Amino acid sequence: MCGIVGAYQRGGDVLPSLVEGLRMLEYRGYDSVGVGVIVDGAIAVRRRAGRIADLEKVLADGALAGCRIGIGHSRWATHGAPTDANAHPHSDASGRVLVVHNGIIENDKDLRAELEAAGTTFTSETDTEVLAHLVAAHLAEAGGDLAKALRRALAKVRGYYAIAVLHQDASGEAQLVCAREGPPLCVGAGTDGTYLASDSLAILPHTRDVLFLEDGEIAVLTPDSIRLTNREGEEVEREAQHIDWDAEDADRGGFEHFMLKEIHEQPEVIARCVQGRADLEAGDVRLDGEFFGDERLRSVERLEVLACGTALHAGLVLKYLVEGLAGIPVDVDFASEYRYRRVPSARATVAIGISQSGETADTLAALRKARDQGCDLIAICNAQGSTMVREADASILIQAGPEIGVASTKAFVGMIVAAYLFALRLGRARGSLSGEAVRERLGELQRLRGAVEALLAKERVEGLRDLADRLADQKGFLFLGRGINYPIALEGALKLKEISYLHAEGYPAGEMKHGPIAMIEPDLGAVVLAPMDGVVDKVRSNIEQVKARGGPVVCVGTDPACLELADDAVEVPEIGEWLSPILNVVPLQLFSYYVALRRGCDIDKPRNLAKSVTVE
Ligand code: M6R
Repeated sequence: MCGIVGAYQRGGDVLPSLVEGLRMLEYRGYDSVGVGVIVDGAIAVRRRAGRIADLEKVLADGALAGCRIGIGHSRWATHGAPTDANAHPHSDASGRVLVVHNGIIENDKDLRAELEAAGTTFTSETDTEVLAHLVAAHLAEAGGDLAKALRRALAKVRGYYAIAVLHQDASGEAQLVCAREGPPLCVGAGTDGTYLASDSLAILPHTRDVLFLEDGEIAVLTPDSIRLTNREGEEVEREAQHIDWDAEDADRGGFEHFMLKEIHEQPEVIARCVQGRADLEAGDVRLDGEFFGDERLRSVERLEVLACGTALHAGLVLKYLVEGLAGIPVDVDFASEYRYRRVPSARATVAIGISQSGETADTLAALRKARDQGCDLIAICNAQGSTMVREADASILIQAGPEIGVASTKAFVGMIVAAYLFALRLGRARGSLSGEAVRERLGELQRLRGAVEALLAKERVEGLRDLADRLADQKGFLFLGRGINYPIALEGALKLKEISYLHAEGYPAGEMKHGPIAMIEPDLGAVVLAPMDGVVDKVRSNIEQVKARGGPVVCVGTDPACLELADDAVEVPEIGEWLSPILNVVPLQLFSYYVALRRGCDIDKPRNLAKSVTVE
């Protein structure tokens, strides 16, 4: 995910604080970086694809030294490749307005077309550049007031963004403002000036009293003051929050581990993945690329999903979604098996690779084999520019931001959201779903973010921590689920074993009686997934069978009878069957995390595992 910094100092040199701020946001991952300052009354920009060290080499000539006001950005490419030209900041044609931006401008294409028709020339492929031209276009009518111009420009924008804007007018007056609609943004006043950032970590070296912007708010910074206004332009008074994190928390944004931080990022991941793709008006989903057009999708006969580990579990969820919503048969295969098996050609017409990294060796090899067998390739992936995305005919980027913890969490949720959007698009293209039906499903998707937020509320997380503490010494667990929640049982077991080293097995609940039931005893119980679906009665009898053999049962779901019957109940918010995997997996991720914490395991770097398995 991208990072924003900015500062307006009373004196001194702003560059070191911008670079230091960018460094503090480095943990979020980035592929290009840049700064923009006002030096000798003119705006100057330096930006580079690559690392902060590459930018520092460019800054070493000292040409930008001694300026008091500036903005900086680290970019994780979404619109356009990670190049110098696409790196932020972006400016308008006059070079007087400079913008850095996190998030997505949903109607970027329409706005770009309008601006181009009016004679604007674009120099990058980013959606951000649209903002620079739009703000510049509104400056005159706003009487040169940057905050007003920004508010007018943003009224035309649909999207999800945090932005900072720097302006230098012809008389030499400089202005610095920032605005939020979605991604986080905060400001703070230090002893030597004022600061803004997308993450309070970058403000902490200057002050521990930080003001977090709410959606729709704009902050105007001067060296001595910060003024906050709302969407209507009315003044907002709000107390700054005192932050008492230590410097070593910085990398993890205040969380004890990356895994926990990434679990907590999931509501934002959902929003990012959906943003710009859900078309409620048309009752449809917009996915970039010709491949996702009606004609091409109507010719798909069978899909083959190829993936490994957690990504494979997302593939199994995709199978239920695509078969259930679009009526197309889907096979799911371990990439490591598929690549060496004799596969009759033309078993499928399209192969879908799912991967967080886009670099997993087995998955890449399996996809290349599928291509040789005549399949077209779709990538569902988190890493733009990865080998998988480059080699695929079309891709759906999940936009979860860098995932650092070895145990995949937020990428998994992003993969399922992407799979859901894909299934809806397929269903719509092939006529198995009406516009009204898609609209209904998209409505559920809109509720999902809030439901995940509710699951991550402090008291719920504490409850799961207590449960994990009590059960951390069990010999192991069976994870049981049915239907679309069967892959979640697999995922719950994988998460627990990889970070806590406890034995865990995931099973379709109906299989319990065919073998695994023999393992049940007082220190080997079951975690049972119980959404209210057509087979919940059968899940209820699974719970009874485990209890009858003395095994403890944790029930995760919504069915009141199952929750009542279990020794421990983890109730999740109601949502339709198709999205229930996401709400059921969040407690399982937290349960694994706290079991591993209790057992003193190295959570972010579990033994013997690598984040990206780029070799066989
Ligand atoms: O980068 P990928 O998504 O292709 O990685 C696939 C698996 O290696 C990965 O999901 C692995 O199973 C994780 N450690 C699970 O948490």
